[in-house]
Amino acid sequence: MSIEIRQEIMRRTQGALFLNIAYIGIVNHLFTVLQKLGSATAAELASESDMDAAYVNRWCDSAYAFELLDEVEAGLFTLSELGGQFLPDIPGSLMPFAVNAVLGAHMAERAAELMPSGERPGERVLAERKTVLPWFGPMLEGMFGPFLESDIIPNVPAYQEVDARQGLAVDLGCGNGWYLRGLAKRLPNLRGIGLDGFDENIRQASELAEQAGIADRVSFKPGDINHFGITEQADLIAMNRALHHVWDQKENVFRIMKEHLKPDGVVIIWEPNWPEQRSLLREPGRRGMAFQNLSEHVQGNHFLRPDEIVGEFERVGMQAEVYLFGDDREAVVVGRNRV
Ligand SMILES: C[S@@+](CC[C@H](N)C(=O)[O-])C[C@H]1O[C@@H](n2cnc3c(N)ncnc32)[C@H](O)[C@@H]1O
Repeated sequence: MSIEIRQEIMRRTQGALFLNIAYIGIVNHLFTVLQKLGSATAAELASESDMDAAYVNRWCDSAYAFELLDEVEAGLFTLSELGGQFLPDIPGSLMPFAVNAVLGAHMAERAAELMPSGERPGERVLAERKTVLPWFGPMLEGMFGPFLESDIIPNVPAYQEVDARQGLAVDLGCGNGWYLRGLAKRLPNLRGIGLDGFDENIRQASELAEQAGIADRVSFKPGDINHFGITEQADLIAMNRALHHVWDQKENVFRIMKEHLKPDGVVIIWEPNWPEQRSLLREPGRRGMAFQNLSEHVQGNHFLRPDEIVGEFERVGMQAEVYLFGDDREAVVVGRNRV
């Protein structure tokens, strides 16, 4: 084997370790606390973040080694410029990469374990890593929230139609509620209700809507997509990265959406655009999608092609338009009742 290949693999291994170390700093608030303190010893950082001093000491060594921390004098650490990029609340934070890396490692281990039997444990796999679950919503928000506001809302006219009539948007499988928060920010007349199966998501979504000062327009409740559970007819029913979670119940889901939609309402489905051609998966921007589809398999799901979604709209007598975004990696499919 050539020395170049070994070096390349070592570089990739270090890339994974780098994100693992960043992950620990994110979920235990070490970056945030260190930024607040300016500089601190490992013991001070541990005390201020309410962590064990011996663990924080070792973490500081590794975060220093990977240039996430700098040392201003012996034993006194500050956040490096790179480390500062992982502060979870800054615009464009690198936090989602670290969370995704650790989630990916968890899913890889589960896929390896389950492959011989073919068992697919379902959604609960996400909750198996206690520190990951609370960061799942913020990860997706960091990855897609800005994109919703910059690219999707301005280019899908249906959103403005719903806003113009002070419509109700229902988000099925709403996660931490970033989508409805994003819509409410851009569309001042819109009201929203989000529904999700994980109580932790509903807790976060309600708290964040409160913090954003929009809790009077946007609310969240626990529930199953298959039961809808909202009495008012909706002007917009949205599903973001959620339809592929319930695709094996698609007949029921599309029936429910049609039944609970006002006659002139719209359904907006946003999903990763699974390509028809396998060769496209080699593109650097799509490789992650290919691995994610393996981890979706562990959860009982698989990614969809837009034409499969269009087919379901047509089956329930609706017409559909497909919009592609992000170098065609993201598909937004809008369904309406036929006029
Ligand atoms: C990949 S996440 C996407 C979350 C959110 N829409 C977003 O874009 O960040 C899929 C979500 O669907 C929810 N979900 C999956 N199946 C569900 C069901 N049957 N009923 C309610 N929620 C469900 C999960 O709890 C999870 O929050």
